[in-house]
Amino acid sequence: MKPQFPANFEDLERSGIGIIAVQGFGMEGLYPLWFGEGSETTPKVIRDACIEALDQGETFYNIPRGRAELRNALKVYHDTLYSIDLHPDRIHVPGSTMLTVMIAAHMVLRPGDHAVIVTPHWPNVEMAMKWAGAEVSHFRQNSGNGKWALNLDGLMAACTPDTKMIYLNSPCNPTGYVMERSDQERLMDFCRSRGIVLLADEVYHRTVYDRNYAPSFLEFAGDDDPLIVVNGFSKGWAMTGWRLGWMVTPKAYEEQMAVLSEIYNTGAPSFIQLGAIAALEKGETALDGLRQSYKESLIVANEILGGHPRIEHTAPEGAFYAFPRIKGIDDGLKFAEGLLFDAKVGVAPGYTFGPENETHIRLCFAMKADRLEEALHAFTGYLDQI
Ligand SMILES: Cc1ncc(COP(=O)(O)O)c(C=O)c1O
Repeated sequence: MKPQFPANFEDLERSGIGIIAVQGFGMEGLYPLWFGEGSETTPKVIRDACIEALDQGETFYNIPRGRAELRNALKVYHDTLYSIDLHPDRIHVPGSTMLTVMIAAHMVLRPGDHAVIVTPHWPNVEMAMKWAGAEVSHFRQNSGNGKWALNLDGLMAACTPDTKMIYLNSPCNPTGYVMERSDQERLMDFCRSRGIVLLADEVYHRTVYDRNYAPSFLEFAGDDDPLIVVNGFSKGWAMTGWRLGWMVTPKAYEEQMAVLSEIYNTGAPSFIQLGAIAALEKGETALDGLRQSYKESLIVANEILGGHPRIEHTAPEGAFYAFPRIKGIDDGLKFAEGLLFDAKVGVAPGYTFGPENETHIRLCFAMKADRLEEALHAFTGYLDQI
């Protein structure tokens, strides 16, 4: 029998990040810059807490919306970091950050609803919205004056009466754009006045280099504002393989979140959640050390990419990616394949981050600075030959 999938399955496609990665996995001497992670394992203090939890028998089912101690630790974390008093019912830990994006999309969007994605963007988000049946349009950041920026008036004008959600990722994967507080306030006002849910992806909130954390909508938004913040442990604490994130919703969503947490995952692994508590309570020094290492790599990336005549590089303010445009190419996927097979450097093709990015590539600079330097020299060496 021919399998029958829902009609909107046709709108989905595999991410271009994976299309390159599957071709290069296991290649000897490879410089993998394609995924959003560094080369360091999760800090020991976090690993130890997880091992101890396993040894103590923390292998059973748990509350689907997240263990009470973890949700409480998240409240304390937010309250301390942002000087706020976050209502505990607003915090949910159903599984990975990706899962929180999926739940947010399905909680808000109905087939035929319109959603606007601030782009360039991480491709999985668009797929989650399309899987919820939404019509998606893009509003692109621009990169004049040496930094990525967003024209807020343009973003607001891109919304229609059918728009139910705006997705904004700050700090941004792949550009490193960071939205400042005054723009956040304007955007939140707009969403309030139009009844649009703002899906704020703050998973890189600690991956900034000129301050301790990026501005968060949670610093000023009220309990009932149309705001869903998704966040996670992957990036700040080098916990990508743990698959754990959290979300902060309006207070009125508590019951829906309890139901949906059961349906989607029936809870995140118990011992993983105990490791996450250690990240929040004991992981600050490690987080800082990781960030210091990324900062050293950022300097290398800015120097090498910024100094090459065929690379149009805009220095990122946050996250750990560079998203340069390569001059003189017309197909970023072909370029990424050539770079992989000739120079053993794995990057992600720009097209997968939304329209108008076909001659861009994304590379993650979270690798240790000395190895990144080798990788980027291999990259520019390839570019000089073609
Ligand atoms: C912008 C953005 N949001 C969400 C995620 C998902 O994070 P996680 O791996 O914790 O599910 C990623 C992962 O790369 C990301 O870049």
